[in-house]
Amino acid sequence: MQAEATSPILLFDSGFGGLTVLSALRERLPDAPVIYVADTAGLPYGEKTEAEIAARVAGLLGRLAERYHPRLICIACNTASTIALGMVRDVLEIPIVGTVPAIKPAAALTQTGTIGLLGTAATIRQAYVDKLEAEFAKKKRLLRHAAPDLVAAAEDKLRGKPVSVDRVADAVRGMVLQAGGDTIDTVVLACTHFPLLEDELRAALGEDIRFIHGAEGIARRIEHLTQGQEFRRDKPDLALLTGPVEPNLLPALEPYGLLRMEKL
Ligand code: DGL
Repeated sequence: MQAEATSPILLFDSGFGGLTVLSALRERLPDAPVIYVADTAGLPYGEKTEAEIAARVAGLLGRLAERYHPRLICIACNTASTIALGMVRDVLEIPIVGTVPAIKPAAALTQTGTIGLLGTAATIRQAYVDKLEAEFAKKKRLLRHAAPDLVAAAEDKLRGKPVSVDRVADAVRGMVLQAGGDTIDTVVLACTHFPLLEDELRAALGEDIRFIHGAEGIARRIEHLTQGQEFRRDKPDLALLTGPVEPNLLPALEPYGLLRMEKL
């Protein structure tokens, strides 16, 4: 069925990590109307159980689909995608694009054969990640590390609070201290919040490390799935929060084209 020209693309994350996906999407589809949903009342997902995350994500996306009739939903969150993508696809009849750890490109790029994977605690324990590792990085060493404070640090940074390199270095130290950690040359940023801290991560881990994340690939996939569709924005794009509205955040969201904010 042809989508209405004003039907939005809905991007969903637990917080504002999905902005890294939105910025890649803007490059490809500048005219696409977007609703960005941050489940700020549920943040952080990384510390929740699988059952809690699945129930929350499926419930919210069902409500959002009914209310906003998006042409496509992008779950711009590795934690939600690795746990709930299949389930959401089963129940919603619109295209759903997920965000999963970029292990495949990292395995193709590493020279030393050692890849670091930074994600949330919930993401790094998923069978989905085991599957990607077995499929694409069987002959590599994949060192997984949960870095929950990077989620909080990225949210702080967006709100204008200073984030020190020491704080970021503390959050990732456990990855480098694993056996073989000193040979990591490629790090998968398996949480959409982490590219917001790429400068700090580079300062903490060294200029020679290559960081890989999925935003570009996701934007390409969305462009492909919406090929031939018309886009027309009849009002400024909206940020929807499940927690209280934060008017002070609007200036930080403006460069991403989000000019209005409401509570869901
Ligand atoms: N942005 C999310 C991800 O990509 C997770 C952050 C969180 O809620 O813990 O995994």
